Amino acid sequence: MSRVAYVNGRFVPHADACVHIEDRGYQLADGVYEVWAVFGGKLADAEGHFARLERSLGELRIPAPMSRKALELVLHETVRRNRVTNGLVYLQVSRGVAPRDHAFPTRPVRPALVITAKPVDTAAAEAKAGKGIGVISTPETRWARCDIKTIALLPNVLAKQAARENGAGEAWFVDELGLVTEGASSNAWIVDRDGVLRTRDLNANILRGITRRSLLDIIAREGLPLAERPFSVEEAKQAREAFITGAGSLVTPVVSIDGTPIGDGKPGPVALKLRASYVSDATAEAL
Ligand SMILES: Cc1ncc(COP(=O)(O)O)c(C=O)c1O
Repeated sequence: MSRVAYVNGRFVPHADACVHIEDRGYQLADGVYEVWAVFGGKLADAEGHFARLERSLGELRIPAPMSRKALELVLHETVRRNRVTNGLVYLQVSRGVAPRDHAFPTRPVRPALVITAKPVDTAAAEAKAGKGIGVISTPETRWARCDIKTIALLPNVLAKQAARENGAGEAWFVDELGLVTEGASSNAWIVDRDGVLRTRDLNANILRGITRRSLLDIIAREGLPLAERPFSVEEAKQAREAFITGAGSLVTPVVSIDGTPIGDGKPGPVALKLRASYVSDATAEAL
């Protein structure tokens, strides 16, 4: 089945999809993105991702390319045309095409919009979660506005590559105080030695993960002990469990940090239970 991409108002074959060489996203990383998990052909955590997209655009003073309702339609149509039942839909908005200049274009330009969708092999993803992943720690090298979901991802790219070269599935950024901020493409969690779920608070320089937000609701509903409080790599190594959350990883157990096994070196029961609860809730509420 051939893939189809949405590019600036048109559906085109994925292989032929392209943007202008003076697109500011291409030249300056002047843009934002969002990723929705797709469950049963519908968008998981739809509202949260739309709200964050609007916020990211607002922070960078990029006009919305179309109304939320229209975006919803195009996202669904991209999912449908690619026959994605379970997978991911990716949306990117750049400030648009203009002669290269760091400052904003002086004449108004239309923001550029690209949307793609791809299936995920659910069985393989479940098998991966059942095995867990290793993470490495890496110094926090990003800018001070990680709350904006920008396409400027070079530190994340380098961190993820370092993880891969070390046989790990994710890299956790560690700030100057030795505290974990988040992953290269996920939020970081532990179940600490006292059985308390811990993840970084939103006053820190992190992305406000939508999966993180939904999981907090599940944790509250299930009455599990929670502290939005930072943890060090050392605390993570001594934790009972660790895991990551994100639209791509959903809830994925972490079984080692920098080669040190966490707990018994196997995915923990809390992480696995939360994964099941998240998938079931997000599927039921998908739009
Ligand atoms: C740096 C970073 N943190 C956290 C997340 C998780 O966010 P969400 O749950 O909204 O996918 C992502 C997702 O791509 C990310 O790139």
